[in-house]
Amino acid sequence: DHPIGVAVLGMGNVGTEVVRILQNQADDLRQRVGAPVVLRGVAVRRTDIDRGIPAELLTTDAAGLVARDDVDLVVEVMGGIDPARQLIRTALEAGKSVVTANKALLADYTGELAAAAEANRADLYFEAAVAGAIPVVRPLIQSLSGDRVNKVVGIVNGTTNFILSAMDETGADYEVTLKEATRLGYAEADPTADVEGYDAAAKAAILASLAFHTRVTAADVFREGISKITAEDLETASALGCTVKLLAICERVDGDGEKDRVSVRVYPALIPRKHPLSAVTGAFNAVVVEAENAGRLMFYGQGAGGAPTASAVMGDLVMAARNKFYGGRAPGESVYAELPVAPIGDTPTRYHV
Ligand code: NDP
Ligand code: HSE
Repeated sequence: DHPIGVAVLGMGNVGTEVVRILQNQADDLRQRVGAPVVLRGVAVRRTDIDRGIPAELLTTDAAGLVARDDVDLVVEVMGGIDPARQLIRTALEAGKSVVTANKALLADYTGELAAAAEANRADLYFEAAVAGAIPVVRPLIQSLSGDRVNKVVGIVNGTTNFILSAMDETGADYEVTLKEATRLGYAEADPTADVEGYDAAAKAAILASLAFHTRVTAADVFREGISKITAEDLETASALGCTVKLLAICERVDGDGEKDRVSVRVYPALIPRKHPLSAVTGAFNAVVVEAENAGRLMFYGQGAGGAPTASAVMGDLVMAARNKFYGGRAPGESVYAELPVAPIGDTPTRYHV
């Protein structure tokens, strides 16, 4: 078996969980991919803290790690624009596939990075960049590519939803809850990105670009965050039978000429308590997609946090690794041989929800 060598750039909330899964689920991954998936190294800023992995795997030389001959695939979970942008470009230009969770980067540079991927026959996957564990990027790119999407509306920032839910449910303090969101690994390195709506705007730009097959950047998105929302606002909303959610709204609107235009905006909105989005609490996200033929689809799940995000990263990693090894085909019989089926007589007849 030719091993697939993986470099992980960043070992924070997400990178730590990616490394854990790579190590703990090595056998599963080998079976799903059809070849061993081997962690070659992890780039961090500080190598002097114990991260529970062999010290020789850690490096501050991210560029050197990406350039290694035994690295086939790069997982970028360091965040920020530079040096992430250049590292991803370098990897793609060397024909190495890249999986990234970096929505801030993708919102403005997907075009550039996708072109580098295409020119070098490499994959660029980013399911984790929008709504954490929820598969919404691939459904838009693949499952709905034969339909016409008219609208995408959702709660796409876990931190702000966690804060607004806690303020609404228990009257929790804004600042205390924001600190808790950081402790739980939901917030960005600079949580201003969350509370001022920049993170949701980046995700909205990505969603709109995918949904409408156009190019929307963060600068095209109207943005208002939640930092001015007060306990009184939530009480007023409640008196009206509503709650407040930070919504990302992407829709086709009538254009001047024959073509529609795209409107993308992020702001705190009043949501009636009986609306399904009002039931999305904590760090959960939900995205509603309206398509001409499919009708309305709703995607729901954990929108932030190390392990949920790592789940999406790992899904992309398996796809990219399979593409490298099998030219995009599934590895055949081996994937079906994982677990034996329990005899029907041994099957529990109750299911507790
Ligand atoms: P963290 O801030 O927790 O971790 C960042 C990691 O990258 C750290 O290990 C840091 O090193 C390392 N790093 C940063 N800059 C450099 C550099 N120049 N060279 C080498 N290493 C570097 O971030 P998260 O794990 O929370 O997020 C990572 C990415 O995933 C971001 O793009 C974020 O937007 C995205 N994301 C995060 C989600 C979440 O729920 N947290 C969900 C979805 C996406 P050191 O440890 O030494 O400081
Ligand atoms: N800070 C982001 C959030 C992480 O709270 O939603 C997930 O993208």
